[in-house]
Amino acid sequence: MEHALDITLTVNGTRISRRVQARQHLVDFLREELGLTGSHAGCEHGVCGACTLRVDGEIVRGCLMLAVQANGCRVDTIEGLSDSGELARLQKAFHEKNALQCGFCTPGMLLAAQDLILKGEKSTREEIRQHISGNYCRCTGYEAIVDAIEEVIQTKVTHGQG
Ligand code: FES
Ligand code: FES
Repeated sequence: MEHALDITLTVNGTRISRRVQARQHLVDFLREELGLTGSHAGCEHGVCGACTLRVDGEIVRGCLMLAVQANGCRVDTIEGLSDSGELARLQKAFHEKNALQCGFCTPGMLLAAQDLILKGEKSTREEIRQHISGNYCRCTGYEAIVDAIEEVIQTKVTHGQG
């Protein structure tokens, strides 16, 4: 019989307790148990970045982390970060620069981009490319994505906006 464990974690600011299967991955727990389907399961072995989440302030691959490993952690997903407005400028820039087409990569891409923006440095295009190199996009060719992230970084550096 599958081994189950009780976990308590904070997801998008809400404390949640559940019994989970020991081998269930965090992205599957969020999607299947909590209905938070914004984090996508793509390759499911740590390559594509579609499942990118924030756990205790650090971006992680939700397909490489077990739900039980998030016990006691704070987990932020695209839903929570969108609702809080934290990603609003990035989302606007992605929209204006046509930095998404099918949108499958977009939640993970936004979290990876925000992770770079929070560092507060004036990153070059090459550094932006490097930072999102673990997030695959099959549609855009990346140029528009780099344009959008660069615009937000420049605005932040120029105006000191958070
Ligand atoms: S689904 Fe996790 S990295 Fe691809
Ligand atoms: S917009 Fe389709 S995978 Fe990136």
